[in-house]
Amino acid sequence: MTRDLSVPRHLAIVMDGNGRWAKKRHLPRFFGHKAGVDGLLKVIKACADRGIEYLTVFAFSSENWKRPEDEVSGLMGLVLVAVTKYLAKLAGDGVRIVIVGERDGLSDRLRAAWDEAEQLTQHNTRITLSVAFNYGGRWDLVQACQQAVAAGLRPEQITEQSISAFMAMRHAPDPDLFIRTGGEVRISNFMLWQVAYSELVFTDCLWPDFDVAALDAALATYAGRERRFGGVETRSVEPATG
Ligand code: IPE
Ligand code: IPE
Ligand code: MG
Repeated sequence: MTRDLSVPRHLAIVMDGNGRWAKKRHLPRFFGHKAGVDGLLKVIKACADRGIEYLTVFAFSSENWKRPEDEVSGLMGLVLVAVTKYLAKLAGDGVRIVIVGERDGLSDRLRAAWDEAEQLTQHNTRITLSVAFNYGGRWDLVQACQQAVAAGLRPEQITEQSISAFMAMRHAPDPDLFIRTGGEVRISNFMLWQVAYSELVFTDCLWPDFDVAALDAALATYAGRERRFGGVETRSVEPATG
């Protein structure tokens, strides 16, 4: 079966704007995060239905520890509730869950919840959902280099392929499409190595408002892009004649 190249194989999303969504409704920020988790479920299903094989979402960055303690603990608690509430459904729907990020510094309960989610879904094949949690692109590069050194790689063995093989995202191809909701136009330390040639789409839509129609709009934008990877355009080039 040939793949439809107008659909990204790997979609990466910075789910931003939860706090502002809550603020607009005069609610504490926590309610924005809660609405954001509930909205994610529909996006996962829609991605799987559209033939996207890998969905990676940025849920908590290495830098998000700078937030007030009650917001951080609210987010950690929310994750535990979400795993209890949604894991069985996701597992039944064929979603493979992979958690990417630093596990040190997380509570034993949260680590156990992530382990359970990964173990229960490890043989699923419909879509791979990678949750970037306590994740940063710089963290990933540093830990990949540390592993390469620990494995005794010689300088000439340090290549793009060998570094990629040590990265936390090694189970997925590079993202074809990168979406950031919430109106900010920056990467905020997400997948720095892997977005080298991703198509970038920034939308003002706040993450809890990002519904299937918004997803389809971003996918349509992607389908209209011409990817070149440093080469020449591929679709409209006529073969050279002698
Ligand atoms: C994204 O929403 C979720 C996390 C970073 C955990 P924000 O909480 O950053 O929402 P805004 O950007 O303040 O609106
Ligand atoms: C990026 O959003 C991280 C997540 C969505 C998890 P932030 O809200 O943390 O990014 P900045 O601080 O606006 O760059
Ligand atoms: Mg934000």
